[in-house]
Amino acid sequence: MIHVMAEKESPTPHVVVLPFPAHGHINPMLTLSKLFSHFGLETTFAISHRFHTRLNKLTHLNKLTRLPSFHFATITDGAPSDLPKAPFQAFPLFITPTARAAVATELRDLLAGLSPPATCVVADGLMSTIALDVTAEFGIPVIAFRTYSATCTWATVFLKKMVEEGVIPVQIQEDMEKEITSIPGLENLLRGQDLPVICRLDPDHPVLNFYITETSAMCKASSIIFNTFHNLESPIISKFSTIFPKVYSLGPLHSLFKPHITTSNNNDTTCITWLNSHHPNTVLYVSFGTVVCLSRDQVMEFWHGLVNSGKPFLWVLRDDSIQSGDGVVDSVLRHGVPAERGLLVDWAPQEEVLAHPAVGGFLSHSGWNSTLESISEGVPLICWPLIADQTVNSRCVSEMWRVGIDMKGSCDRVIVENMVRDLMENKREDILRSTAEMANMANESVKKGGSSYRDLEKLIEDIRSMSL
Ligand code: UDX
Repeated sequence: MIHVMAEKESPTPHVVVLPFPAHGHINPMLTLSKLFSHFGLETTFAISHRFHTRLNKLTHLNKLTRLPSFHFATITDGAPSDLPKAPFQAFPLFITPTARAAVATELRDLLAGLSPPATCVVADGLMSTIALDVTAEFGIPVIAFRTYSATCTWATVFLKKMVEEGVIPVQIQEDMEKEITSIPGLENLLRGQDLPVICRLDPDHPVLNFYITETSAMCKASSIIFNTFHNLESPIISKFSTIFPKVYSLGPLHSLFKPHITTSNNNDTTCITWLNSHHPNTVLYVSFGTVVCLSRDQVMEFWHGLVNSGKPFLWVLRDDSIQSGDGVVDSVLRHGVPAERGLLVDWAPQEEVLAHPAVGGFLSHSGWNSTLESISEGVPLICWPLIADQTVNSRCVSEMWRVGIDMKGSCDRVIVENMVRDLMENKREDILRSTAEMANMANESVKKGGSSYRDLEKLIEDIRSMSL
């Protein structure tokens, strides 16, 4: 059953945007959809019922209906209604053949019923097979949007090669430390432990095979969009021109046309009020994104490390981010530190938090959106990568862009304490030089005439020309 909401009469072209059902994928694709709408393109955002409800709670989506020519279409994500509490455990349920077939059926129905008809589908790289199969029936092109960095996406292009060469699986300590030579352009950067975390899976693992299949399908799309900017990843971005006739780098997307597309309506002012009571650059913001799930022991190690560092911190601990919480963690965390030293929240308006003058550092899981948001605000990072692309991002942050330090998998209170002190005091001056430079380049890229601004103009023009 398909519901198209807030449908209005509007001219062609019409873009259908198809995200993968996970918050870190939906966020940048929703931002891009708002930009399409801002530029007058008819835009239908095909989101799952589940995430439509979730997003509505967090960002007051009703404001979006005020954007011209923006529509939500809700389709299934194919997974059962009772998903596991930990979001990461839900991932395999979205990629079963049954789930994918259900999504394909509803996408087909959506495209068949659209008026004006769709000009193209902008599909998450992880939705490539579905998008290409269904759009072939309608004779319309697919533009891929890979929500990872260009560097990580480039690494996934070589997954199959790495399986054939025996680099995958990376499982023993010796593999973790080995330099990876299978990915042209990244030979001097990645070690086994820095590869996407799926490289630790056995070669016949369904999740690894899902990535291989989707990446190979994605490479058949007519063009590709990245949420990155030229000065950040130029050498790797240019490598994609050998696969795609057109490559658009639009990042940091959340900063493009910001005043026009911001729809966040954060009524909860708890974080900002708390931050207002702190001096500039003194607070460490801590968040592990929307998917990562911590064990009780990991939470306690972070807690002690943060408290012992003596620095004030604002920590997002989602309800579903602690495995088997038994109430003890909860009570220790919420009552074990004076209110002015630490604030714990379930959700924070992250972009506003990172832009707040009191925030001087970000202890992050190195999700790509968080990394970019921090880079564009010039906030230095402590990286604690755990899953997916996060290990690649943390390596780039510490070794390539030098805008932070990498804890990798270690989770020990003494290491946490030392890392916080290094970021906020000992190594701060050096890191701040690169963060300021990088933030400046990020902000230049989204200004009129900047590289991301120009790529967005090209993309809009190319979509318009598809409907001529
Ligand atoms: C997931 C993967 O973990 C990540 O590695 C991949 O790059 C994208 O998919 P997620 O865990 O959601 O991402 O992290 P991230 O990419 O950082 O995205 C989280 C988004 O939620 C950010 O845009 C962030 O601003 C927002 N957020 C998160 C909030 O606004 N408030 C919060 O409290 C937490």
